[in-house]
Amino acid sequence: MPVADPLRQLPALGPPQPPSVHNELLHILVPVPHNRPDIALRLAVDAAPGCGGIAWPAGEVLARYLARHRGPPSLAGARVLELGSGTGLVGLIAARLGAHVWITDQPPLLPIMANNIRINDLAPQVTAAELNWGEPLPCSIPQTFDFVLAADCVYFEPAFPLLVATLCALVPTSSPGPEVLFCYKKRRKADKRFFALLKKHFTWTDVDDASDPERQSYSREAISLLRLRRRPGSVASPISKA
Ligand SMILES: C[S@@+](CC[C@H](N)C(=O)[O-])C[C@H]1O[C@@H](n2cnc3c(N)ncnc32)[C@H](O)[C@@H]1O
Repeated sequence: MPVADPLRQLPALGPPQPPSVHNELLHILVPVPHNRPDIALRLAVDAAPGCGGIAWPAGEVLARYLARHRGPPSLAGARVLELGSGTGLVGLIAARLGAHVWITDQPPLLPIMANNIRINDLAPQVTAAELNWGEPLPCSIPQTFDFVLAADCVYFEPAFPLLVATLCALVPTSSPGPEVLFCYKKRRKADKRFFALLKKHFTWTDVDDASDPERQSYSREAISLLRLRRRPGSVASPISKA
């Protein structure tokens, strides 16, 4: 997957980031409706620790969606887990909207996530934690959440079953469970295999807001914002300790 994938048609939150981006600081402004002030965020980006070190298009779409539609009271006080957070952009915006957030990723991304929490003064409201898909949920994070967020996490085929297993671990078959917002950019045919696996355990619907002024532009960029629901009675293989 190319490292830089600018939003093109979409109003970008920050300047485009080339694949070679190294230790840069973006100043991000996320618009909030109803004459409320924009959310300002500083975002350190650095491609060195891996593809998650820059802000990806589906993450920008999900961050903007949260700011447009999930202002207080929706996220205020809610417990939010973000999977594959990369820089942490989505989770940091959720925190600015009042949530208590755990941004998670693989070990190489933890320093940039921790730095982004620090430079936005968002500790202890936001915690960075290691969460490798397909592995048991770490004991250091709560085991239940109000929201699970994931953006641009469908891109590496060997990780598809691992991501599905982690989603199953986070979302019980019994209701109510967390609300899962899954923002996805279609890139290649193999993505279908992820949805074939996901279908065994989840149903999904577009987050349908026809009045959303941005929906048309992100759809043109092959980005979908989905709400996942666990299939009642679906049985996931238990994640075992390595
Ligand atoms: C394309 S980036 C998206 C980052 C961020 N969500 C965004 O939208 O800007 C995908 C992220 O998934 C993470 N990831 C990939 N495989 C993973 C795994 N097996 N366990 C945990 N995270 C993983 C990567 O480290 C990376 O940060």
